[in-house]
Amino acid sequence: MAMPPQGRQTSPTWLNGYGDIFKTHILGCPCVMISSPEAARVVLVSKAHLFKPTYPPSKEKMIGPEALFFHQGSYHSMLKKLVQASFLPSAIRGLVPEVEQIVLNFLPTWENTTINTLQEMKRYAFDVAMISAFGNKQDLEMKGIKHLYQCLEKGYNSMPLDLPGTPFHKAMKARKQLNETLRKLIQERRKLEKPEGGLLGVLLGAKNQKIDQLSDSQIADNIIGVIFAAHDTTASVLTWVLKYLHDNQDLLAAVTREQEGIQRKIIEGNRRLTWDDTRHMPLTTRVIQETLRRASILSFTFREAVQDVEFQGYYIPKGWKVLPLFRSIHHCADFFPQPEKFDPSRFEVPPRPNTFMPFGNGVHSCPGSELAKLEMLVLLHHLTTSYRWQVVGDEDGIQYGPFPVPKRGLPVKVTPRNIIKAAA
Ligand code: HEM
Ligand SMILES: *[C@@H]1O[C@H](CO)[C@@H](O)[C@H](O)[C@H]1NC(C)=O
Ligand SMILES: *[C@@H]1O[C@H](CO)[C@@H](O)[C@H](O)[C@H]1NC(C)=O
Repeated sequence: MAMPPQGRQTSPTWLNGYGDIFKTHILGCPCVMISSPEAARVVLVSKAHLFKPTYPPSKEKMIGPEALFFHQGSYHSMLKKLVQASFLPSAIRGLVPEVEQIVLNFLPTWENTTINTLQEMKRYAFDVAMISAFGNKQDLEMKGIKHLYQCLEKGYNSMPLDLPGTPFHKAMKARKQLNETLRKLIQERRKLEKPEGGLLGVLLGAKNQKIDQLSDSQIADNIIGVIFAAHDTTASVLTWVLKYLHDNQDLLAAVTREQEGIQRKIIEGNRRLTWDDTRHMPLTTRVIQETLRRASILSFTFREAVQDVEFQGYYIPKGWKVLPLFRSIHHCADFFPQPEKFDPSRFEVPPRPNTFMPFGNGVHSCPGSELAKLEMLVLLHHLTTSYRWQVVGDEDGIQYGPFPVPKRGLPVKVTPRNIIKAAA
């Protein structure tokens, strides 16, 4: 923690008796770290217009400069409304049968084998993201898109060195090809009378008094961006859910009982899992909330002051980075007693306002939170009722890829559940 140099201690100052706002330097950049819920709210919500999101230029190039993450103001809010509209509960409740079908296709391939949990969850979350982006009418191009995405992702987490042979270079090449593939797909779908299907359909249909037609690259950048934001995040959280349930067998038993209750109703009704079923999984939902808090895979986010800002006695010069530290707030004992303990029951009462922000807050908050929760609930329904998993190896560590996940992506051996019952 650095105090301001002498002579700058004019009012307003950095002095803060609670140590929840302080300045520091990361790679030579002056930063303000924010770990008070109230100050985080100011940065993300009430004065959001004074703090713009910032990303390294290499990431912007790779995802596409017209993706909504990188923007403020009217372009951002126009796109945000469209993206939000395609991920509202009313828009995604119809996806449940397809999400369930993806789960039912994956699970048997895990049976009696050792899987890398993170890798499998990435494949699952990617398939769900593709359906929500393109609709269930999956064109032939989908396989190609998947492959190009994998190349892109390898480069995303590597050094931004654009020399032949580097992962970054390969990723930029994949990005160009992705551009072409998507452009063809967009042009095909533009010809349709009524462009249907997921986010792409919504973006193609975005034509009203206020909005002119979006350009091909505006659409492509946002599709690529949303798939990017959707799958690594959800997969990392799911990996932690499996780890925590594995380490807390009583909790796993209780979650399984809850899911068996749902399963009985489904069998009695001779029907499939529905959106409404997923609204009646209170314990499983709390397990997901506690995982989001405890693992806090997005530890913080980056903003930059667009002008000198003064609030509540703090002074932030223009151009400084401002980092709301979600993880610190989620791990503060004042709001979450015994913060290192995995205890879903703490969510039996709602957390204090602005202390629980796994999906961010304000104008840039996550439009995909309901989809993420839905795909976790659907997977847990089938996994807990039909299977058990045993962690292979006993390393208790964390790796970053880029989000924190259990070491080696949590290798687990998956077995049919009745086998374990018979053996016990
Ligand atoms: C458990 C999984 C997820 C977590 C923890 C998560 C978390 C977050 C957070 C914290 C932000 C705000 C970042 C900031 O303020 O700088 C965000 C933004 C975003 N998320 Fe998610 N997310 C998840 C899943 C998804 C999914 C499934 C989608 C797909 C629709 C998605 C799409 C986005 C988009 C497009 C943004 C940018 C919004 C904007 O800039 O206005 N996310 N996410
Ligand atoms: C997995 O192992 C169990 C017990 O050995 C067996 O009953 C089951 O058929 C196996 N499943 C597959 C897919 O091999
Ligand atoms: C994708 O295509 C658009 C429009 O032709 C172009 O402006 C953009 O630079 C391309 N992006 C990449 C990464 O090649």
